[in-house]
Amino acid sequence: MYRTHKCSELRIEHVGQEVTLSGWLATSRDLGGMTFIDLRDRYGITQLLFNMDDDADLCGRARKLGREFVLRITGVVSERSSKNPNRPTGDIEIQVKTLEVLNAAKTPPFTIEENTDGGDDLRMKYRYLDLRRDKVQKNIIFRSNLALETRKYLTSQDFVEVETPFLIKSTPEGARDFVVPSRMNKGQFYALPQSPQTFKQILMVGGLDKYFQIVKCFRDEDLRADRQPEFTQIDCEMSFVTQEDILNTFEGLTKHLFKATLGKELGDFPRMFYDDAMKLYGSDKPDLRFDMQFVELNDVAKGKGFGVFDSAELVVGICAKGQATEYSNKDIKKLTEWMQRPQIGAKGLVYVKFTADGVKSSVGKFYSDEDLQAWGKLYGAEEGDMLLVLSGETEKTRKRLNELRLEMGRRMGLMKEGDFKPLWVLDFPLLEWDEDSNRFHAMHHPFTSPKKNDVERMLNGDHETMKALRADAYDLVINGVEIGGGSIRIHDRELQSKNFDLLGFTKEEAEAQFGFLLGAFEYGAPPHGGIAFGFDRLCAVLNGQNSIRDFIAFPKNNQGRDMMIDAPSPIHGEQLEELGIDLKKEEVV
Ligand code: AMO
Repeated sequence: MYRTHKCSELRIEHVGQEVTLSGWLATSRDLGGMTFIDLRDRYGITQLLFNMDDDADLCGRARKLGREFVLRITGVVSERSSKNPNRPTGDIEIQVKTLEVLNAAKTPPFTIEENTDGGDDLRMKYRYLDLRRDKVQKNIIFRSNLALETRKYLTSQDFVEVETPFLIKSTPEGARDFVVPSRMNKGQFYALPQSPQTFKQILMVGGLDKYFQIVKCFRDEDLRADRQPEFTQIDCEMSFVTQEDILNTFEGLTKHLFKATLGKELGDFPRMFYDDAMKLYGSDKPDLRFDMQFVELNDVAKGKGFGVFDSAELVVGICAKGQATEYSNKDIKKLTEWMQRPQIGAKGLVYVKFTADGVKSSVGKFYSDEDLQAWGKLYGAEEGDMLLVLSGETEKTRKRLNELRLEMGRRMGLMKEGDFKPLWVLDFPLLEWDEDSNRFHAMHHPFTSPKKNDVERMLNGDHETMKALRADAYDLVINGVEIGGGSIRIHDRELQSKNFDLLGFTKEEAEAQFGFLLGAFEYGAPPHGGIAFGFDRLCAVLNGQNSIRDFIAFPKNNQGRDMMIDAPSPIHGEQLEELGIDLKKEEVV
């Protein structure tokens, strides 16, 4: 028998019992006559005591053990003289009688403790050691629970879990595909799904009515803290539904997940139109944990002789409450430089401070105190507040001010731990005009339906009309993170063909790429729609984290590498030949 108890279980009431425990040596302290060892398993830590006076030989062996040795011990539970109130097993220790080394271990390259000294890449290379850390294990177990609760909720609502294939044809979600060569069809490739989008729509044509899947998706795109090349979605589709049905179902799922995992009750989620989100927050995923809405100043700031504002398309700012005295001229200069970094690209930053000594501003010579007080009124500014104002081309200026708003929110400590602010963002544009390629892209994906009122304009409108079309597309945002996105789909072949046409596909291209879907639509496609949540992101947000890596058992680094198994890596010439791939000689192993 390896163990009678887990390392988390023993308490004062077990004193006197003989027990067997197995686990890893977490730490060891040698106090001359006594050696203490912390034994760790998935469940917790128990202190072991080896006493020189009781058994000198055993104690001598214990002293030689290294970190992460795998041990089995038997011993007697005894009450500790100095208790550790921070540990559930802190009242007791085990007086060890027998010790067996189940396996020795090399000295680990970083400490396996709450706050490790290992850098990201090192921890990823030795992921099995990082996984032994309580923090990382908790995340992985949290993820398992979240998946279980998702399945419970969705199956209770009649959803059916269906697996869709991984070796498919390209799905147009806007990123690049990972491709897999086919040995049996030389020169031809599968693509790994960016999402199961087309399959889930076909399942609706197949009459499944309510589908879900907790599914891996693959996207070859630039990586960030909240993006991995392979990630997981809670992917769903429903038939005979309106947008309202979908929002209600997935608001229900989100509330259930918060309650089941955090014990938190969320109220009804507010909703905001995409256009308002952009105007008020400069972002389609506003963080509503704090206010600081944008206020546009075109009407009051233009025409007073300040050339920069006069020539700008948009003058817009935020009010940072209570910050007037917090920011010296030097601090403002630093903040301006922060805004001028290439990542943000602002040209300058105007401030207006409302202080006990009156109004102070970097544009004071162009505007009277009354002018500036009038600006302040628009923000509801009071003494002690500071306005930060940007100007320029509308879209860019809004984006920059969004960065500034988030930075001020961080600096002012307004993103509070344990505070969750969900939001539905509705009515995204259907199409996005891309100046570089001179064509439209689908803002969500090409199967997204225009709003009912826009169908006529879509079928018959001119180019400019297309830019203004709105879609039945929605995102769920929590604390400024895009958790999920979905839409009502086009289920009519003519409208779908028109959409492909707008997106620049010729009839032949559309047929070659999506003929199967268009064909299916001719056999009685029900009205349908769906959504997908980023499962890794949901895990991270529920835990107040930005990075999804710690919620993935085997993540990749920012270069898309798996540091542990060292992938991607070259393959043998023989294997390439078999696949019919002819790389230049020097690239072949
Ligand atoms: P979308 O492309 O918006 O929609 O993706 C849905 C959600 O998946 C998450 N996500 C990611 N998470 C981690 N790493 C990534 N690289 C990554 N890319 C996306 C986000 C996002 O909101 N088929 C549609 C859904 C639908 O229309 O039903 C789709 O995939 O949280």
